Amino acid sequence: RMIMKKSKTIGVLVPDITNPFFSTLVRGIEGILYRENFVTMLCNADLDTKKEIDYLEELSRRGVDGYIIASSAISNQAINETLRKKNFPYIVLDQKKAEGFSDAVLTDDFSGGKMAAEHFKQLNHKKVAVVLPKDATENIQTRLIGFQTIYPEVELIYAELSKTGGRQAASAIVKTDVTAIFAINDELAFGLYLGLADMGKKIPQDYSVIGYDNIDMCEYVTPQLTTIAQPIYELGQITAGLLLERVAQPEKDWEEKTLPVQLIQRFSTAHLK
Ligand code: RIB
Repeated sequence: RMIMKKSKTIGVLVPDITNPFFSTLVRGIEGILYRENFVTMLCNADLDTKKEIDYLEELSRRGVDGYIIASSAISNQAINETLRKKNFPYIVLDQKKAEGFSDAVLTDDFSGGKMAAEHFKQLNHKKVAVVLPKDATENIQTRLIGFQTIYPEVELIYAELSKTGGRQAASAIVKTDVTAIFAINDELAFGLYLGLADMGKKIPQDYSVIGYDNIDMCEYVTPQLTTIAQPIYELGQITAGLLLERVAQPEKDWEEKTLPVQLIQRFSTAHLK
């Protein structure tokens, strides 16, 4: 089938542009699209299903050539109606789970969660907490499952996926007897820094903390944050590259790529005395 190059535009849907994870991701996407003479049209969904559907429909009215979807609020039904039935090229990643009908790029969330737990184990921590959203998306749940292969019993502390969420979670943490906290992303960890400090607690003396993502700020906070690094920029680049291949060759087989993660040890984790 011949694809008419309509607009040389790709629509990108992310859940929260204020989180540096997503700005770095989009920077990676945009770099590749720019190089190939495509324009990036960025839509921030705020986890708002109505906003997402509005964006999806508006992008299709504007004749974009393809879609990159990192936001889970987009239902599979909306994808079916707006994209699949019309054979529009799209790719999903991160918070949006692949359903087997599109290309997808993942990072190894299971190993990431497991690495965080192994680090706590080496540091002799016995009682640990995981801070995550109650209605966590699948990628985040997979981190927890990986973590629980080492610590089957964890204190689950629910918080919104943001700095504010982390700050608020601190009061629940101090009521437990944990000595180590796995924050399911870096923003949550930074929120914990402030919330724990408000309660007179010190990192890593009172609590060891591990984040997830390795956004730039990890190096600029005190203590520098130990975290699980995702290759965020490359994730964006690879996603954009795969989508452009799909735009050029709509009939090729679906591809799924999984990128590795790694533990970056800094100063927010310490041996339990
Ligand atoms: O910081 C945003 C988090 O949500 C990241 O861990 C990313 O993987 C996304 O799912």
